[in-house]
Amino acid sequence: MARVIFSGIQPTGRKHLGNYIGAIMQYVAGQERGEPAIYCIVDLHATTVAYDPAQLRERVHDTTAILLAAGLEPERCILFRQGDVAEHSELCWLLTSVTALGELNRMHQFRDKSAAQRELVSAGLLLYPVLQAADVLAYRAHEVPVGEDQREHLELMRNIAERFNTRFGAGTLVIPEHRIPEVGARVRDLQEPERKMSTTGGSEQGTVYLLDEPDAIRRKFKRAVTDSDDPPVLRRGDDKPGVTNLIDILASVRVVSPQSVEQELASARGYGDLKLAVGDAVVEALAPLQERYRALRPDQQGLEDVLAAGADKARAIAAETLADVRAAMGVGRDRRANGRVRGWV
Ligand code: TRP
Repeated sequence: MARVIFSGIQPTGRKHLGNYIGAIMQYVAGQERGEPAIYCIVDLHATTVAYDPAQLRERVHDTTAILLAAGLEPERCILFRQGDVAEHSELCWLLTSVTALGELNRMHQFRDKSAAQRELVSAGLLLYPVLQAADVLAYRAHEVPVGEDQREHLELMRNIAERFNTRFGAGTLVIPEHRIPEVGARVRDLQEPERKMSTTGGSEQGTVYLLDEPDAIRRKFKRAVTDSDDPPVLRRGDDKPGVTNLIDILASVRVVSPQSVEQELASARGYGDLKLAVGDAVVEALAPLQERYRALRPDQQGLEDVLAAGADKARAIAAETLADVRAAMGVGRDRRANGRVRGWV
């Protein structure tokens, strides 16, 4: 059976190594398997917190160029901007009818983000997970590769789809599955390995940005926090978050197992060797990405052309789902009477 893969990525902030290993590398791999693999830059989600309209398009271009530089190929996947496909907004509204207010209120991300807002806590922030459900359900996607932090949103999305099917028609929507990468699902901050690497709240020194200069990358790894085991113990373990993080990062960018990295490190003299090895490996992995990014990013028209072509492909799929959803809900003109699309009567 064809497996539709769908994921969404925020156009906010600078992308870091956690985004790369936890999401972007999975996206690139998904191109091989997805039938199709669909990747959406979620500018509508970005409007749920305070933002600058002029900057939003710039950030969408940044993210588009990063994804293309990382290896997404517009011929082999569908890459588009959420705000270019109106079906997302419409399906979001339709799905509110099968979403419980209590569920939305309990979402941890809503609680955290609303507490962090200085002025307006928008209704959009509350509805954020419904729009996310619409993103995925519009394409009847089977797999959703996202990080551990999206577990709650995925559960809610499954509830929404199940409730829709029960209320309006079995089999209308596909119940999607969460797909969390095993390694690298939680890349951690290099300075505070107890917390994940993140754009908000992380330390500059502990966060490796994809567009950091090679020297800066090596420096950040050289200064990474490990632990005070003496003699140094080069293995993974719950009691060793810093060392575990470095081993996992090294394994991820080399696309090998953490076990094989542990074996290789058996002859290392100390944490310094590990830090040098992972710094070099990350610089090497990111060099071609950085070079392609520099070539792609200035060509705004080229980026817009890629997004426009992706939106056309996305719209064609989403429009079919929306026609079924509207019909099942009894909303709007019935275009499907007698199995045919009818004109105005
Ligand atoms: N909320 C996701 C995040 O912050 C982004 C997202 C939006 C998404 N729509 C999606 C992820 C649909 C997966 C599927 O990372």
